[in-house]
Amino acid sequence: RRPKKRTKIIEMMEELQKENVYIKDAERVEKLLCQLIQDGKSKLQIITDFDMTLSRFSINGKRCATCHNVLENSSLVPESKKQVLDELRDTYYPIEINAKMTIEEKIPFMMEWYTKGTGVLVECGLKQSDLSLAVKESNALMRDGCDWQFSTLHEHKVPMLIFSAGIGDILEEIIKQHSQMYANMRVVSNYMDFNHDGMLVGFKGDLVHTYNKNEGALRNSDYFTTLKDRRNIILMGDSMGDLRMADGVPNMQHILKIGFLNDNIEERLEKYKEAYDIVLVSDSTMDVPNAILKKIL
Ligand code: TMP
Ligand code: MG
Repeated sequence: RRPKKRTKIIEMMEELQKENVYIKDAERVEKLLCQLIQDGKSKLQIITDFDMTLSRFSINGKRCATCHNVLENSSLVPESKKQVLDELRDTYYPIEINAKMTIEEKIPFMMEWYTKGTGVLVECGLKQSDLSLAVKESNALMRDGCDWQFSTLHEHKVPMLIFSAGIGDILEEIIKQHSQMYANMRVVSNYMDFNHDGMLVGFKGDLVHTYNKNEGALRNSDYFTTLKDRRNIILMGDSMGDLRMADGVPNMQHILKIGFLNDNIEERLEKYKEAYDIVLVSDSTMDVPNAILKKIL
C-alpha cells in the first residue's frame, strides 16, 4: 500500500507541477500553504524585491533593463560615462551572482559598485523630467501577471512592500507605465535627490544594495510594527540577499519564500532550493505566486 500523501494542495495546483518549479521540502511547503490559506488575507503581507523579481529578466533571449540599466542605456548618459558604468557592471555583477562567495565576502564589492555607480550618475547632469522618457525608451518590463497581482492585492487590502536595491524613482515609473502604483504599496529603495532645478545631485538616505537588505528591513521596523498582526509573509526575490528582507518583521509566524532563479542556473540551483521554499527557474511570469494568492484571498 502506498504511504498516505501529505502534499494535497501542491498536487492540486497545476502551476506547481511545471518542470521549472522546484520544491525541495514538499511537506514543509504543503504545511505552509495550508496555514496561509487557513489564516487568510487579513494575516497576510507581501515583501518583494523589484529588479528581476517583479521586473522581467529577459525577452526573446535579450536581457531586460534593471532600474540602473534604464539610465545607463538611455541617451541621457554620455558615451564616456556609459563605458565606465559598463565596466563597473562587468566587474561587479559576476560577484553579485557568484555561487562560491559568501554574502559577507560580497558586501564590500557591492558597496564599491553602488558608490561608484551612483557617483557616475550624479556626474551625468540627469534631470527629473527626463526619467519618464528614459523608462519609455527602455526595455524594462514587468513579469506577466504583475498587473493582476497588484490590483488584486489592492482590492483585498493586502500590503505589499517593494524592497529594492535599484532606484526608487525609476521603479515607480516602470510600475506606472506598465501597471499602476496602488495605495497598499510601499517602496524602500534608493531615491534620487534633485536640486531646485530638478537636477540629480545625489541619493537620499542610506544606501540599499543587494546584500544589506537586512539593515534596511530593521530601519523600516516602524512599517512592520504597524502591520504586526499580519504575521504571515510571502517573500519574493531573485537573489540570496532578498531572503533577508523580512528581518525586521515582529512576531512572524509563517513565511513562504519564492525565489526566481534567472541566471547562472546550474551553479546556483542547489543553494536556491535550500534557501527558497519554491524556486522558479527561467520563469517570465507571476503564475505561481498568483495561483497561491488565489487560494489565500
Ligand atoms: P533589486 O534589489 O531591485 O533587485 O535591484 C538591484 C539590482 O540592480 C541588482 O541585480 C544589481 C542591479 N544593478 C545594476 O544593474 N546596475 C548597477 O549599476 C547597480 C549598482 C546595480
Ligand atoms: Mg533583484
